[in-house]
Amino acid sequence: MKKYSQIFQGTAFSAKSPKEIQILKDYLFFINTNGMIEQIVAPEDADYPTLLEAYQDQDNFHRLTEGQYFLPGFVDLHVHAPQWAQSGTALDIPLYDWLNTYTFPLESKFSDMKFAQEVYQDVVSTLLANGTTTALYFATVHKEASILLAEICAEQGQRGLVGKVVMDHPENNPEYYRDRDTQTALADTEEFIIAVKELAKSTKQGVYPVVTPRFIPSCTDEGLQGLGALAAKYDTYVQSHCSESDWAHGYVQDRFNKNDAFALHDFGLLREKSVMAHCNFINDDDADLFVKTGTAVCHCPISNAYFANSVIPIAHLHAKEVEIGLGSDISGGFSPSLFDNARQAVISSRMLEDGVNTTLPAEERGVPNSRITINEAFYLATAGGGESLSLPIGRLEADYAWDAQIIDTTITSAKLPIYQADEDLHDVFQKIMYLARPENIREVWVQGKKVHSRMS
Ligand code: GUN
Ligand code: FE
Repeated sequence: MKKYSQIFQGTAFSAKSPKEIQILKDYLFFINTNGMIEQIVAPEDADYPTLLEAYQDQDNFHRLTEGQYFLPGFVDLHVHAPQWAQSGTALDIPLYDWLNTYTFPLESKFSDMKFAQEVYQDVVSTLLANGTTTALYFATVHKEASILLAEICAEQGQRGLVGKVVMDHPENNPEYYRDRDTQTALADTEEFIIAVKELAKSTKQGVYPVVTPRFIPSCTDEGLQGLGALAAKYDTYVQSHCSESDWAHGYVQDRFNKNDAFALHDFGLLREKSVMAHCNFINDDDADLFVKTGTAVCHCPISNAYFANSVIPIAHLHAKEVEIGLGSDISGGFSPSLFDNARQAVISSRMLEDGVNTTLPAEERGVPNSRITINEAFYLATAGGGESLSLPIGRLEADYAWDAQIIDTTITSAKLPIYQADEDLHDVFQKIMYLARPENIREVWVQGKKVHSRMS
């Protein structure tokens, strides 16, 4: 009899395509010693009864109880880990003022490793408790604290992709918070990449270094060029903010007479492993360039409601086959939950479609065909994130990592309104997506290992 590290039995929801959910009712999931799903078996399959009989009494066999369901772990494509310390505050001012008044002073404190340790431990465990099994993080300019964040992800079992932030521009960044000069920024980035690649060897789930120019205004041309070269040399991920707000987008136009996408491309920063946050102002040429280079868009719907001065046309970009995932953008977005962000993604898309200018007749308001469904928002939070990172994550299927959340709809303090045992599973899925709270997330698994559990 073949040995597995874990076997699970229960009903799972996984994205089949952006618009379609796959319901795996009472399936068996066999997880190998690498934490990958080796096979899934449906109740209709001929060998199901024999397999169930053979494995169900083992200690590593987990059967979900009534009202419990599997979801894939969430992939958060944009988190500023240090900003967790200020989440929920200061969202009533424009991006430029928010950065200078609140965010840069806070991030400058991460030269203090004790403070960094405290905040980073807390943000990683909070994200895990919210079902986020993979996170793409911005740290700060500090090399040591950025390595510490990767170490904390490794220790807590989260698949963390971490960037030491580069801010080498001598005039556009405050004196108290920037890289000393371009050479130091690039040397620190290279040392950071090497350290995280070394650390990755001792993890099962993987941790990854990410080349991270904060956004074009923060960086010199030489800095951006050097970062593009490092990304190519070490074949790393790249992340940045792209065409986020009127101000940030306009700055790049003034400096390069181009949109962010083409400027970043000129510096070698649009690659298969690139994820660009926000992208509210990208046009069709920018989108085509993203498709050509394999660059993904990270949609940050809560943050965009505060800082973007626009709503990104997600449905249009999906139709153009741009890879898209979802991001919390802590703390531009206040919530560490991708459930909350998925809900806002749907709401924002409806507002874009329906419009708000009531001086116009109903049929002339808004942008037609902009709405996305909760299925599409779920896709962004799971499979879309996995595709954006080119990793086998975000789906509960064979050859994907066992990154999963067990949702319990019966928890007394957060009971979901599921009243009939035979309720349509599409309805159950929608109730979970709209109503689940952290209390409903009973267990979280990454790469076949349990990394979070709550009893009630
Ligand atoms: N642009 C540059 N830095 C930031 C940041 O920290 N958050 C957001 N939302 N936008 C940025
Ligand atoms: Fe951001």
